[in-house]
Amino acid sequence: MSRILVLGGKGRLGAALARKWSERHDVHALARPEIDVADLAALQSLLEAAEFDVLVNGTGLTNVDRCETDRAEATTVNAHAPGVMAEAAAAKGARFIHISTDYVFDGTKASPYIETDAAHPLGHYGHTKLAGERAALEPSPRHLTVRVSWVFGPDKPSFADMIIDRALANDTVEAIADKTSCPTSAGDVADWLEPFLASDLPGGLYHACNTGACAWRDYGQHALDCALQAGAPLRARTVNPIPLAAMKNFSAPRPPHTAMDTKKLSTVTGLTPRPWQDALEEFVLQKFRHSSSGIRN
Ligand SMILES: NC(=O)c1ccc[n+]([C@@H]2O[C@H](COP(=O)([O-])OP(=O)(O)OC[C@H]3O[C@@H](n4cnc5c(N)ncnc54)[C@H](OP(=O)(O)O)[C@@H]3O)[C@@H](O)[C@H]2O)c1
Repeated sequence: MSRILVLGGKGRLGAALARKWSERHDVHALARPEIDVADLAALQSLLEAAEFDVLVNGTGLTNVDRCETDRAEATTVNAHAPGVMAEAAAAKGARFIHISTDYVFDGTKASPYIETDAAHPLGHYGHTKLAGERAALEPSPRHLTVRVSWVFGPDKPSFADMIIDRALANDTVEAIADKTSCPTSAGDVADWLEPFLASDLPGGLYHACNTGACAWRDYGQHALDCALQAGAPLRARTVNPIPLAAMKNFSAPRPPHTAMDTKKLSTVTGLTPRPWQDALEEFVLQKFRHSSSGIRN
């Protein structure tokens, strides 16, 4: 049983990792207000005093538009704080698992990105996350940086919840049809990373997402199809396509095509991610099963 400290324990991914790993490990999760990772000195003191075998960073300034305006905060949280965490973990001989993003790529590659592809971020979010990846890996070859994309899960609403809520309340819904990536279950990420918690599997950079790629529109359509299967009284049943260029409120640039290849993760762990459609179906069916009436209020 490993002692695991998860930072960002109330985030979409951090909460899922902490919840699932608690079944077999000694997990302690911290979140604001207990810890503010932007206070680098306080972060360092806290980590020096803490006991853990594995430190996991689920924190991040994840609103890509906000990262363009609150640039200093984004740099501190996404780039500098992971460096402090990585050094503190290395000093204890502990492993550090840092979560990063497909937004380190410019999204112009026609096939799925592999770990050795050059990163060319388009916006400040991607730039700070790339700097954080490098700071995370630098102090120890056992440390990991794990790039995920389009995460959904039961701990915090995501695009899938938003499109279902809109379809419950409106006669029409729309989503972007010319931006593709890999929808990814937070719970599945926990399963794929668990082998790294108590073993000497190699560190380094990993892509971790469900298999297959799709546009936001197709992601939303499958979410609605699954909600209908669960008996949800949707008013809108079809997601209408719109172009990325129509999103005038998007201030940050977004990479158009960022599907990632997960062969390295599979080879090292022996685990093969399932298709995103299967993971999303399970999530949506459970979401409605867990509401008392069988459908969401
Ligand atoms: N969600 C996705 O689709 C996606 C895609 C690619 C990569 N990622 C990466 O996955 C990681 C986890 O993201 P997520 O999806 O779980 O997003 P999330 O729900 O926004 O989680 C991020 C967490 O970081 C916390 N945080 C932000 N600033 C902090 C600070 N100064 N001190 C302490 N905690 C702070 C937030 O806390 P508050 O709630 O208090 O703000 C939030 O709980 C991030 O590194 C992100 O870059 C996510």
